[in-house]
Amino acid sequence: MVDYRTQGQIAILEVNNPPVNALSIHVRKGLDDGISRAVRDPSVKAVIVIGKGRTFSSGADIKEFNKPQEGPRLTMVGKKLEESDKPVVAAIHGTCLGGGLEIALFCHYRIAVKSARVGFPEVLLGILPGAAGTQRLPRVTDVAVAMEMISTGKHVPAPKALEYGILDKIVQGDLLEEAVKFAKSVMGKPVQPCRLSDQPVKGADRLVQVFDAAMRQVKQRQRGFMAPVVCLKAVRSAAELPYNEGLLRENTLFTELMSSSQCAALRYAFFAERAAQRWQLPSGASAANTKPVPVKSTGVIGAGTMGQGIAICLLRVDYPVILVEQNQKLLDKGVEMIQLAFKDAVRRKLMTEDAMRHCMSNISPTVDMQQLANVDLVIEAVYENVALKQDIFRKLDVICKPSAVLCTNTSTISIDIIASATKRPGSVVGTHFFAPAHIMRLLENVYSKDTSAQAVATVMDLGKKIGKVSVLVKTCHGFVANRMFHHQGQEAALMLEEGALPEHIDKVMEDFGMSIGPMKVSDLSGVDIGWRIRHEVAKMEGVELTSQTRFFRGERYCTLPDKLYELGRLGRKTGKGWYRYEKPGGRVAMVDDEVTNLIKKHSAEMGIERRGISTQEIQERILYPAINEGFRILEEGVAAKPEDIDVIWWYGFSFPRYMGGPMFHASQVGLSKVYERICYYHQNFPYSSHWVPSDLLRKLASAPSPVPISQWMSYSQSKL
Ligand code: CAA
Repeated sequence: MVDYRTQGQIAILEVNNPPVNALSIHVRKGLDDGISRAVRDPSVKAVIVIGKGRTFSSGADIKEFNKPQEGPRLTMVGKKLEESDKPVVAAIHGTCLGGGLEIALFCHYRIAVKSARVGFPEVLLGILPGAAGTQRLPRVTDVAVAMEMISTGKHVPAPKALEYGILDKIVQGDLLEEAVKFAKSVMGKPVQPCRLSDQPVKGADRLVQVFDAAMRQVKQRQRGFMAPVVCLKAVRSAAELPYNEGLLRENTLFTELMSSSQCAALRYAFFAERAAQRWQLPSGASAANTKPVPVKSTGVIGAGTMGQGIAICLLRVDYPVILVEQNQKLLDKGVEMIQLAFKDAVRRKLMTEDAMRHCMSNISPTVDMQQLANVDLVIEAVYENVALKQDIFRKLDVICKPSAVLCTNTSTISIDIIASATKRPGSVVGTHFFAPAHIMRLLENVYSKDTSAQAVATVMDLGKKIGKVSVLVKTCHGFVANRMFHHQGQEAALMLEEGALPEHIDKVMEDFGMSIGPMKVSDLSGVDIGWRIRHEVAKMEGVELTSQTRFFRGERYCTLPDKLYELGRLGRKTGKGWYRYEKPGGRVAMVDDEVTNLIKKHSAEMGIERRGISTQEIQERILYPAINEGFRILEEGVAAKPEDIDVIWWYGFSFPRYMGGPMFHASQVGLSKVYERICYYHQNFPYSSHWVPSDLLRKLASAPSPVPISQWMSYSQSKL
């Protein structure tokens, strides 16, 4: 795991633990043995620590977190590196993260290639850099920089790290050769000034101001998330305590965080996100055995809000885009909006003017669908209407070349229905983007009964290329995201007519940890979206929904959202929805008496006596129908595993990652308790099918002891 060799008077310790040189027990042992050997060997005058393969080190081995500590601790290994009288040089490429950066900070010198990145991402796992990172970083760079880096987990590019003083030099050419040259240049020099434990904290005189400002930011940015707050306290202790006492304080805070439920949730999240990329179809085809269709050219149909966002995603990573609209006016408007979004990115320094011009030169607007004849992949993004989408796919079937992958950005309609309009259903696949498509990271890819493995591989690959987190699900009405979210919307509306107000519901859910509550989400995505979906479904079933409708499909139906729609209160875009906004497109949600009166009048018209609804009831009635639906989704194989559902909720609905997602949250509450509450609501609200408890949940809840989330799926086929 650590190869030891000498080159002249230099000992080279090369970490070799693919894929990312995590500091597992054998690596720590190897480094420990290696430095002892180098110190003992009188012919060795300097030491280099370097990583083999793609990276220096990604830090501690996260898989070891649940296990008892074995082998030398990282701090002990580091102490030996620092105490060496022979200069030790860390030679960095790829990423140098967490424990990896801690090792580098124990070395006397750090050199790196220009493309390297350093950082302390521990906070994203709900912990802090627990091998002296919080005590050593503010001794090499300013305390304000240390607080920022440690509390956000951001990676810092090598040139910036040089500016911060974290690196001593950026080298060009072969890293090992440069490291050897560097080691020779420092050979024989005293190492004392390079031992960070002997250095004062930089900027300690400004500690209080820096700490207060950083704490304000952290609390504002990440309500309810413990780790960033504790990280700041640990860095503060570096400035307030002698080095060794600071280490003890760091250790106490680290242990506290490590045993927290937030840390458990974030560790789960780390592996869940990576597991979601390892998709597999029921046929056995998988990410490991299927190659995507090479995509060099793309088309987007529809230049409305979604089409614009999708086009931006493609243009940003250099795909040429043929943008199709039905008339010139809509097309011009779409192109103008895309240009405005790019200009905004330039203004915010997210891209250069040149990059913007390049992106815009890659767009070919047209009203002629025939122009799509040669594209490798096309994404349809017109509004949610079955007949319209089928008509487009019928045309695409005739126009596009046989190898083209035909994607639909439907958010609810079954891909089977859309694909049936073509003679090549194997090429048709769902790519459900979330609004705003160029900002939201989730891509819910949807396969139908006929979608080919190659089409799936292509859209999963596309997701990666455009910087999305892709999750693969099986088709059904609403897929995973909207199918679960839909019940939240239903329950929220029912609570409104029973006695709640939008601001109450949102406050409870925001206090729970959601970045915005469900009523604000509805305003953000557009009240008309839900209206269109409900009325489309009703139309397909030959039903007319009116203001008098109390039941639809045998279920309790609340007409309040329809009433809001009829008033033209479509959400943020019209400046009015469940809230009032400062202007159309505004962001500041204000309580609106017109809505309060509408809700109260509606309850009176329905003959419902309004009552106070408790925080617990709001939380349960928003979360538990979604969780119950999540279990049904697993039962039906629409999602392959609970982790996929949770990934969808972090990236699609900003569910707090430190709570692990709705399925993980259910596991932490306890499935028997969740099941019991769902049964309670089912008894009280028999006309809402989302309260009928899922069979899988029932089976898991009645297991003699709690079933770990990784084993839930083994219960889906059991006959319990
Ligand atoms: N421990 C264990 N496994 C790790 C790991 C780690 N620190 N970092 C990455 N891996 C694994 C991943 O799980 C993945 O495994 P699979 O292929 O089986 O899914 C594999 O390495 C490759 O990882 P990615 O798919 O993420 O590869 P990437 O190139 O996209 O990203 C990376 C590489 C930037 C290093 C990213 O993996 C990453 O951010 N890793 C986590 C880094 C981190 O959090 N370090 C801090 C650890 S805690 C610590 O060090 C505490 C301390 O102070 C003592």
